[in-house]
Parts: sequence; structure tokens; C-alpha cells
Amino acid sequence: MANTKISPDLPALNIAVAEAWIALSAEAIAQRNAFHIALSGGSTPKALYQLMATDHYRQQTDWTRQHIWFGDERCVPHDHADSNYRMAREAMLDSLPIPPDNIHPVPMTDADVGKNAQDYETELLACLPKTAQGIPRFDLMLQGVGDDGHTASLFPGTTILQERDKQVAAVFVEKFNAWRISVTFPVINHARHLIVLAAGAGKADIVRTLLEDKVPDALYPVQMISPEGQLTWYLDSAAARLLSPETLRN
Ligand code: 6PG
Repeated sequence: MANTKISPDLPALNIAVAEAWIALSAEAIAQRNAFHIALSGGSTPKALYQLMATDHYRQQTDWTRQHIWFGDERCVPHDHADSNYRMAREAMLDSLPIPPDNIHPVPMTDADVGKNAQDYETELLACLPKTAQGIPRFDLMLQGVGDDGHTASLFPGTTILQERDKQVAAVFVEKFNAWRISVTFPVINHARHLIVLAAGAGKADIVRTLLEDKVPDALYPVQMISPEGQLTWYLDSAAARLLSPETLRN
């Protein structure tokens, strides 16, 4: 059973995640002189990123030791309105003293999305500590969850769910009629820490289903997360409102 941390509202939830980010980065920087985090895209984390860029959190860590990566990315130019990198850059990265070399957007230079995915995997392997099996190991991965149970760009019914050799892959997502690039489950399941972030009443049904119903893994990709590291769901009370008292005690 995953750990759950419930906050009364989105601002409190963002503070809880920000405090976890700072604490985990202090531990990683003390032990390995670097903290590698994979950001999630979508709309939920934007306010968290804006919070991290405030003076209070700017002063809480050595940002020159933080390496910013992306768990997934839409296959659009970095200045496109749908780009996860653009969202994070505008919300946070442009306001923090992170060395440019420590910010690792998914490359979009090649017309071949598979080549861009391969190049990102090469960069991950060159920069991150690795497991004994050679899997790049994030210190923290922030994951969102969609109402269909997807996480990162690991959508139900897509081939990338079964990918175990590549650490980064391109995937065509029918529901959006668009290509995405995503880390694969070998990377997610070897992260030292994973935070699944869900907020708002619109996520209450899927959160209850995922945390309380026993449903086939492949139906809900986020349930295929079974990390060696620590998995914690950070929820606001609106997203947690359908959970049983027993789940809430975890
Ligand atoms: C993306 C995200 C994706 C997101 C979920 C939830 O690129 O869109 O990585 O996995 O986290 O779709 O999105 P919301 O936060 O917008 O609900």
C-alpha cells in the first residue's frame, strides 16, 4: 500500500511537496553532491513550480546542485504552449539560479521522435547515477495522474507500457493524435523516491480506484509503479474525498 499525505487544499499540498523536495535534495546533495529530479507536466504542478521559485524556497537549497529533468514531454517545440519544459521554465526555471547545463529538456531537434527519445536516454545515462543493472536512477520523480490512470506519458493500451529495454521511448497517443516522449517503467521503478501528485475533485474517482480497487494493472498504468524506492501520494482533500479511513491512515 502506498503512503498517502493529505493536505486541506492545493496551497497546503504544494507546501508539503515543496518541503519534501527540499528535504530529499538536502539528503542527495549531502550524499552525492547532486539532486536529480524528474518533473511532471500537465496543469497540477504549475503552482508548485511557482512556489519553488519564491524567495523562501530559493534560499532553502543550493540550486547549483539541482538537476532538472522531465519525466515526459509532448513532441512539440520547446516554446510551444503545450511544452512541459516551457511551463516549467516560465513557472520556475527562469527565476532560479540553476546552471543552464543542469536543466535537461527533452531534445526536440530531430524530426524523428525516436531519435530525440534515444538522445534523451543517452543524456540520462551520461548524467545520472545508475543501478547495478545500468538503469539511470532519479533521486525524485514527480508524477501526475490522469483520470484514465495514466502517468507521465504512459497511457492505457499503449505499447510503451511493456517497454523494458529502453529507458526513454517515443509513443503515439491515439487520444491526443500526438507523439509523446516518456521515461519507461524501468526508470520509474528504480527512482529513489516517487511522488504522485493529485489535486481537485476531478481526481477523486481515479484516486479512490487506484488506491482502493484491485484492478488489472494494464488498465491503469499508474498502478504499474512498484518502485524499489519510496512511493507517496500527495493529495489535497478534494482528490482524497472518496478514500476510506483505512487508506487515509497510511
Ligand atoms: C503531461 C503529464 C501527465 C500529467 C497528467 C495529469 O505531460 O501531461 O506528464 O502525465 O501529469 O496528465 O495532468 P493534470 O495535472 O493536468 O491533471
